[in-house]
Formats: sequence, C-alpha cells, structure tokens
Amino acid sequence: MEVIKTIRDMQAMSRGFRLEGRSIGFVPTMGALHEGHLSLIRRARDECDVTVVSIFVNPTQFGPQEDFDRYPRDPEGDLKKLRPIGVDVVFMPEVQEMYPHGASITVDVGDIGRILCGKSRPGHFNGVATVVTKLFNIVMPDRAYFGQKDFQQSVIIKRLVRDLDFDIDIVVCPIVREPNGLAMSSRNLYLSDEERQAATILYKALKFGEEQITSNGIRDAVKVKREMERMIASEPLARIDYVEIVDTEELLPVDTIKGPVALCVAVWIGNTRLIDNMVIDTSGRTGTEPASGSQRDDINLKHPGVKSIGGFIEERLGGFMKKIKRLESFDLYNIVISEVEKSIISMVLRETKGNQLRASKLLGINRNTLRSKIKKLGIKIR
Ligand code: PAJ
Repeated sequence: MEVIKTIRDMQAMSRGFRLEGRSIGFVPTMGALHEGHLSLIRRARDECDVTVVSIFVNPTQFGPQEDFDRYPRDPEGDLKKLRPIGVDVVFMPEVQEMYPHGASITVDVGDIGRILCGKSRPGHFNGVATVVTKLFNIVMPDRAYFGQKDFQQSVIIKRLVRDLDFDIDIVVCPIVREPNGLAMSSRNLYLSDEERQAATILYKALKFGEEQITSNGIRDAVKVKREMERMIASEPLARIDYVEIVDTEELLPVDTIKGPVALCVAVWIGNTRLIDNMVIDTSGRTGTEPASGSQRDDINLKHPGVKSIGGFIEERLGGFMKKIKRLESFDLYNIVISEVEKSIISMVLRETKGNQLRASKLLGINRNTLRSKIKKLGIKIR
C-alpha cells in the first residue's frame, strides 16, 4: 500500500494506472475510518483494478464555528485499517498542499447547497464540491464511491459530475449502522455513552416514518413529518435541526408521497450534530440506495458495469451456492437468467408505466421480442 502526500506524485501514479489500462476506484474520506467508510472501500476494491482512498479533513467545508479543529484525526489507526483490505494507494495531503493559494477559485453548487444541511451550514456544499473537484483532478478515477449516509452530498456530487462533465461514474453505497440502528459516523466519537443511546432516536424516527408510509399507507408528508418531529422531541437530549420529506432528485419537500422520497433528519445530540436518512419508494420498498433513475449511476455503461452487475449476482448467489454444491444437477443457469430477465423487464415496464414500445426502446430489444418474453416469463403488467 503506497502512502502519497503530494498532488504531483498522486497524479503521476494515476497517470501510470491509466496508461496500463487499469480502472481506478476512488473513495474520498476525512479519515477516522469506520465500517461505513470500509464498506465503500471494499466495494471499490471489488469493482475496480486499483483502489485509491483519500484522507483529508477539508477546512473549506467547515464553517467558522464548526468542529474543524477538533474533528477526529487518527492517520496511523486509519492506515492500519486500510492495509488488510487491499487498498493500493492512500492519498493524504496536508492543507498547505491542497490549498497553497487559499480557496481562490471555487465551485458553487447553487440552490441545492442552500437547503436541508446547507441552511445551517452555509458554504458547506461549495467546500465539498470544490475539494471533490480537486480530488477528482488529482486521482483521475473511473468510479468514485460515496455513502448514502450523506444523502444531500451524494445528490450534489452526481450533479457536479453531470454539470461539469466529469467522466466519472458515481456509485452511492448503503448506510452502515450500529446494531442499535445508529448510522456510523466519525462524529459519533464525540458522543458520551448516554448521548450515544439518545442518538438512536434518529433511526427510530426514520423507521417510524417508514412504517407510517409503508404499513399505514399515509401519503400526507406533513403529517408523517410532524409525527417524526414529535417523536424526536420526546428525547430530552435531542434538539431538531430539521426533519424533511423530500423528492430524491431536487431534494424539495413534498406534500403528498408519490414517487420515491427521502426522509431526512438532522438532530443535535448535546453538542454533536448528527444526520441520517431513509429512501422509500411508493411501492413500499425501503431503499438503502436512492430508487428510480439515480440507481442508473450504479451501472457503468462503458466497461466495468457488467462486472458490477455480475458482482452483485455472485454476492447474492454465494450462500445459495454453498447449499447446492452437493447436488449433482441443478438448472441454475436457466433459473438465474430467466430471473434476471424477468426482473429487468418488469422494472422497465414499471418505469414506462406499461408502455411496451418505450420499454422495448429502453431495453434495446425488438417490440415483438419483448411481447413474447412478457408472455413466456409470465410478467404481469400493472
Ligand atoms: P466522510 O464524512 O469521512 O465520509 C466519507 C464517505 O463515507 C462519504 O461518502 C460518506 O457518505 C461515507 N460514509 C460515512 N458514514 C457512512 C455510513 N455509516 N455508511 C455508509 N457510508 C458512510 O463525506 C466526507 O467525508 C467529505 O465530505 C468528503 C466527501 C470526503 C469531502 O471532503
């Protein structure tokens, strides 16, 4: 595992990887690594030829009254965690290396950076977008991995890549939680035992909101939001920053829950501000990843995408394989292929609201082929 401190060395290293035709997976972090970070890193390692992790506590995304100085730093501990995972390069620059001229030219993410967390953290997302832009130019990755834990950040990064034409696929990974539901976060280190217990109220409120929507069929977003607020307020150590139910593209509050929505919460527990979220779609499935269009980002249409889907199938079939190993004959190939075929066709038909012409175009197959597959696979069109 190489540890690199300068931009010049990192760029030279990445240029080398690219010349060799190796795909680069990149996980930007601020260190104090925990299982949430490590889940992103393992995924990058599984999907790319080379894995680069950056550790940099970025001053430009902290407000003047925020915790930049006391943000947890543990470079030695971090490197120890990264070695056994099979990370190839750790990029750990100093502040002076990243900002020798101060924050001179910066990225402005616009209105989406002023809502939700942006309200109480003005300038935060411009700081994030600026450092991520710099890191993208330094590491030159093919794919970059972000956590859904910072949902607004992940939406903004996807938009950054779209609007500034970075040739990078953004992969958003599920939230990793403690057994009690608390989303893992470097800032959890600030919490006392009592606060740590109190902090589980965020997940409890999200689960409660989810249940109201999926089990009780409530579609009035304001009602769900109020009930979640009431629940969080019942915890004496908690002070609400915001509770919002927003659409997953623009992150604007919805009145009625129709498409996929994100339940987003930011809560102070003592002096520590914690965030958490849950993505829910109207069919009642809770998502660890944003539903609908945004999942498309998970598929690299250029090259390693097929590997990514393949990896997913292998992961899912792993346990099953162990069970069937001793059976001599099993129609595994046909079962898996028809299952995959069935689910991709059903998904696209749901997306096109049953319009077969549009679905066949999206799938890239002939309309008659689609029709016969619908019949053969017994797909029901709602
Ligand atoms: P940091 O808070 O260190 O997080 C690095 C990455 O890990 C982010 O993409 C974040 O969403 C993800 N992550 C954190 N906790 C997680 C959890 N419990 N489950 C899954 N993923 C989790 O986010 C930043 O750093 C910075 O803003 C950065 C992008 C590095 C720019 O400075």
